[in-house]
Amino acid sequence: MKILVLNGPNLNMLGIREPDIYGAQTYDNLIALITSHCEKKGIEVNCLQSNHEGNLVDYIQQAYFDKVDGIVINPGAYTHTSVALLDALKAVSIPAVEVHISKVNEREAFRQISYVSYYCSKTITGKGFDGYIEAIDFLADGAK
Ligand code: DQA
Repeated sequence: MKILVLNGPNLNMLGIREPDIYGAQTYDNLIALITSHCEKKGIEVNCLQSNHEGNLVDYIQQAYFDKVDGIVINPGAYTHTSVALLDALKAVSIPAVEVHISKVNEREAFRQISYVSYYCSKTITGKGFDGYIEAIDFLADGAK
């Protein structure tokens, strides 16, 4: 099984950005956690991050040609603005889970809309890095 883990803008700044909200662990720590979990489970994983919406669209489209079985996506702030990411997920029709490190539902009003949630089978919020592991396991267990 092949999984793509996609992180959007500012998630490369984990450990530096607002540690009271996102924690003290870095993006590299996140990738190490995901990689070691997937290794144990025999899952092939590709972790990508971009601060640019178009790059994220390109990565989602590429997942179709790479025959990726599942996408874990934390679109960062693009969660709340991007119809393009929603359309890209719909275009490739690959099972996907949305992850947010923070409790977005308890934050500002502008964070209460998620475009990708119109496509994703599941949304995991407020579980920190463990949310990514839960999402991977959900996809590996054959969710759609
Ligand atoms: C986030 C929540 C978003 O509202 C924010 O813009 C982010 C991170 C999260 O993981 O909690 O960049 O997606």
